[in-house]
Amino acid sequence: MQQDCADPDFWDVRYASGVMPWDSADVPEDFQRFARTKGAACRVLVPGCGSAHEVKQLLDQGCQVDAIDFSIEAVTRAKASLGQHAGCVQQADFFLLPERQDYDWIYERAFFCALPMGRRAAYAHKMASLIRQGGVLAGFFFLAESPKGPPFGVTMEVLQQLLSPWFELLAMSKVEQALPVFAGGEHWLTWQRL
Ligand SMILES: C[S@@+](CC[C@H](N)C(=O)[O-])C[C@H]1O[C@@H](n2cnc3c(N)ncnc32)[C@H](O)[C@@H]1O
Repeated sequence: MQQDCADPDFWDVRYASGVMPWDSADVPEDFQRFARTKGAACRVLVPGCGSAHEVKQLLDQGCQVDAIDFSIEAVTRAKASLGQHAGCVQQADFFLLPERQDYDWIYERAFFCALPMGRRAAYAHKMASLIRQGGVLAGFFFLAESPKGPPFGVTMEVLQQLLSPWFELLAMSKVEQALPVFAGGEHWLTWQRL
C-alpha cells in the first residue's frame, strides 16, 4: 500500500479498498450542536472532507458549503452521497486554495492529523488566510502523543504554538464516544480568528 500520506494515492487506495478506520459513517453530536448555532448563509469550508457525512446538515440549514478533498475516490464517494448537492464537493488540494479570507467556519475533522507533521505550519498559515476575522476553525482534533501516523497526534501545547499567532481558543471539550483510532484523544476545539 502507498505509504506517503502527502500523496492523494495514499488515500485513494484506502477509499477504494474500504480501509477507512477514521470514517464514523455518521454525523457526530458535537458537530450537530455547533452547526445549529450557525445561521443560514454561513460560509463553511470542509477540507479533506472524505465521505462528507456532515455536509447535508449544513446545506439543509442554508449554509454555503465548499467541501474539498484531493483524493478522487473520496470526492466520488462524497458526490454520490450528496446527489443533487454534489456540486459543492470539488477535488482540490487544501494548500493550493486561493486565499480568500471570507469563510465564517472551517470544519476540521481528521484532516490536521492526516497531514505529514512537516505541513503543520503551512496548515496554520493557510487556515488564517481563509477565515475572516471573527470566524472560526472548529471541529475535532486528535490530541495525543503519537508521532506515528496517520493519524498523527498533537499536544495542546504544540497546537497553541501553531495557531495562537492568528487564533484564540474559545472552547475545548473531550469527545467520549470516539472511534477506536482516536480513542482517548479526540477533542472538539473552537478557535476564533483574531
Ligand atoms: C483521515 S481522512 C478524513 C476524512 C474526513 N474528514 C472524515 O473525517 O471522514 C483525511 C482526508 O484528508 C484528505 N487530504 C489529505 N491531504 C489533503 C490535502 N492537502 N488537500 C485536500 N485533502 C487532503 C485525504 O484525501 C482524506 O480524505
